[in-house]
Amino acid sequence: MPLTLNHIARQGGHGAAMMPIIQGVGRAAIEIAALLRGAVFRGALGEAGAKNVQGEQQQKLDILSDAIFLEEMRATGHICAVGSEEQEALLVISEYEDADYLVLVDPLDGSSNLDVDGPVGTIFSVVKRKSANDNTPVVDDTLQSGREVIAAGYVLYGPATMLVCSVGDGVDGYTYNPTTARFELSHGNMKIPATGGYYSVNEANADKWLDGMGDRLQNMKKETGLGMRYVGAMVADMHRTLLKGGVFLYPADSKNTNGKLRLLYEAIPMGFLMEQAGGKSLSKDQHVLDVQPESLHQRVPVYFGSKEAINALLPDA
Ligand code: AHG
Ligand code: MN
Ligand code: MN
Repeated sequence: MPLTLNHIARQGGHGAAMMPIIQGVGRAAIEIAALLRGAVFRGALGEAGAKNVQGEQQQKLDILSDAIFLEEMRATGHICAVGSEEQEALLVISEYEDADYLVLVDPLDGSSNLDVDGPVGTIFSVVKRKSANDNTPVVDDTLQSGREVIAAGYVLYGPATMLVCSVGDGVDGYTYNPTTARFELSHGNMKIPATGGYYSVNEANADKWLDGMGDRLQNMKKETGLGMRYVGAMVADMHRTLLKGGVFLYPADSKNTNGKLRLLYEAIPMGFLMEQAGGKSLSKDQHVLDVQPESLHQRVPVYFGSKEAINALLPDA
């Protein structure tokens, strides 16, 4: 019989505490997947007409997914606050502001794929509050390096809906089974292949890259002979990198001098998973998990992949 998300309760030191939270992510994923499938019939595609704190045009589905995710985190009863890509400030969950955990979330990743029916995802990480439980949680509770992460994962809304997560005891992939209406373990103990795979980067930015990344990428391509794949949704590109090997990178460039991807709810959760799966996660000259966050929406350049590909790209890292 297949293992379900309940299996998480038996994993690592934090599985029991994380299981109800990841079950909540699973419920949000099922609702968001249904929302995406029917969006065109509800006039839910397209822009919402507002910009988020990132200065990016919000899609209607960004806002709807954010609301679904927040409600499912509230309903777990274990989350005191949520830091979301779509919300400038930390969202305190007033009924449970004495709870132990906070969640950082990118509710809908890869939004530019929505109106072309491309893959998109949700990315999350869980940290334990630093403030006393009888205080109101504050942004500082979220500003913890990846070494403090208790659990992290992503949902990939593709031909199937997958939930890939870790509580620090390896990485497991669960696929939503519409017959049993639950997530069932389909990819146990995921490890990134040591060789092969693809390099994955938006090469249109190559002439603007900083830190000599253009030459470094050319050298890596020569040394490894990797093919290229780029979906434009971090979750999809990272999922393929985890399964097939290679490297995903979003370097700093003259337009985005700190890179484009956000540290707290894109780089750290993905870096946590990549390292749990035996890969490497770098940002500039340090491990992603060692970067000390200074603000909720700060951006960092990222290089994720197999040790072989990362060493070919950043030999002195
Ligand atoms: P989001 O939709 O949450 O803003 O994330 C988009 C990100 C990430 O998913 C992807 O890797 C990257 O933007 C793609 O950026 P480019 O379109 O500049 O290549
Ligand atoms: Mn994103
Ligand atoms: Mn997003």
